[in-house]
Amino acid sequence: MDEKIKDSFFDDPETTTFWINNSLPSQDQILHLQDSMYIQKDQEFHKCTLGIQYHYLLYFKQQTVQKWVNLNNSTMEYIKHQTAGVGIRISKHKQYFEFFGDVEPWYNYLRQYCVQRNFSQSYTLLKKIGQGNFAEVYKATNKLDGAEYAIKCFRKSKLKEKIDRLSMIKEISIMKKIQHESVIKLYEVFEGPECLYLVLEYLRGGELYQFIKKSHPFSEEKCQKLIYRILKAVHSIHEKGVLHRDLKPENIMLRNKDDLDNICIGDFGLADYYSPNGQYLFTRCGTPGYVAPELLQDKLYDYKVDIYSVGILMFILIAGKSPFDGKDYDDVVMRNYYAKVKFEDCKLSEVGMHLLKGLMNKNPIERLSAQEALNHQWFAKENSNKCSQFKIRKQNYVLKKLTHCELQIKKNSTLSTQFSPLSSISSLSPYGITKYNLDDSPKSPNTPSAQHPSLASKITGMGQLRPVRRSQFTLKQI
Ligand SMILES: Nc1ncnc2c1ncn2[C@@H]1O[C@H](COP(=O)(O)OP(=O)(O)O)[C@@H](O)[C@H]1O
Ligand SMILES: [Mg+2]
Repeated sequence: MDEKIKDSFFDDPETTTFWINNSLPSQDQILHLQDSMYIQKDQEFHKCTLGIQYHYLLYFKQQTVQKWVNLNNSTMEYIKHQTAGVGIRISKHKQYFEFFGDVEPWYNYLRQYCVQRNFSQSYTLLKKIGQGNFAEVYKATNKLDGAEYAIKCFRKSKLKEKIDRLSMIKEISIMKKIQHESVIKLYEVFEGPECLYLVLEYLRGGELYQFIKKSHPFSEEKCQKLIYRILKAVHSIHEKGVLHRDLKPENIMLRNKDDLDNICIGDFGLADYYSPNGQYLFTRCGTPGYVAPELLQDKLYDYKVDIYSVGILMFILIAGKSPFDGKDYDDVVMRNYYAKVKFEDCKLSEVGMHLLKGLMNKNPIERLSAQEALNHQWFAKENSNKCSQFKIRKQNYVLKKLTHCELQIKKNSTLSTQFSPLSSISSLSPYGITKYNLDDSPKSPNTPSAQHPSLASKITGMGQLRPVRRSQFTLKQI
């Protein structure tokens, strides 16, 4: 191996591919950058034309693209040459390409795609602000402009398996894909000798979990506002074809202290792209007590798993405790497994309860989609506020649609396909192609007490439970 290239966590050990000679995957004509650069060949520097299109580096020959590299997860470093000056080295799969010239705008553009190396030259870690199950999170400042960021650090020694590498790559790719005001922003990624660093926007308001602890019970109006915002963010995540799978108060953060108007969904560590036939990196994952029953029951599932988690959150906000409140961890998991919800513990108006039951319907076909939930009458105020900024007439339209929605729910019909023609997500539902057994009985083994976990961690009310990620696991293993 060339000594210039360090091992990269992101390299696929099974490939050595760097340049691709086939035609570009994108038919787009856009070029984000194009310039003449110098490359070294046989001890001499030659002029060549390079271009950037999104995350592709293009090598031109007589104005046509001769070859290209997908820069996602490649490593980028500044280099210096005695005569050529400053350049950039891109390395991937133990191969590299160096070019010299006016490279600064290129480096700045490529930070969003490439992994960088010089973390400690760029950021100062200040203090630890979060401890997840897979990472530690620090507050940090950028050395150049002093701006504050949150840095999610992963120890490479804890990520030795192939699945860990794939999972990291997925978390990064999903976060980059979802650009929404209520979804955490990922700015850049660094790899150091011991850790991987994800540079995130700093959410100074802390976890929703802490906020709920100090300020429950929530009024119905306050809960309405918050759930509306969360559903909007979840809708945007689903629109991108992504399932979050770990929505819970610890993974929702406030941008500013006590400001519920600015919430942010974070932690895409268990997220995955929707797969109609259930092909996920981790099939059964999430935090017991916060997941949809069909996921625990090993059934084919879709976007609706996140909706169930939003329902659990709505319950917690109003009731101040988990809907699966039980005597111990096992009891909580079993209640979650069978979707045994004590709705009577949640004091809501009739319309609020109607929505909650729509979110927590144990039948995912009948459960509302994010878009359907957003159109629910409980949000009439939110929707009318939004509409009144435009036209009063449009507001009537929304309310009319709501009446229709309610009728559909009463008739127990499949809302996902009938009510939401705008939602492309509904049409992707796996339930259209799979016969779905909605009875309460788990697939195996027969006796619930024999299958459920023996971990004895006590939970009272809404205690913090650990997320689980496995490609397959039985209840015994949760
Ligand atoms: N951008 C951020 N700003 C402020 N705090 C954060 C940020 N990201 C994460 N945290 C804190 O760190 C904790 C762990 O981060 P998370 O992404 O959930 O890691 P894990 O995947 O290990 O659960 C969060 O619950 C939160 O308290
Ligand atoms: Mg987390």
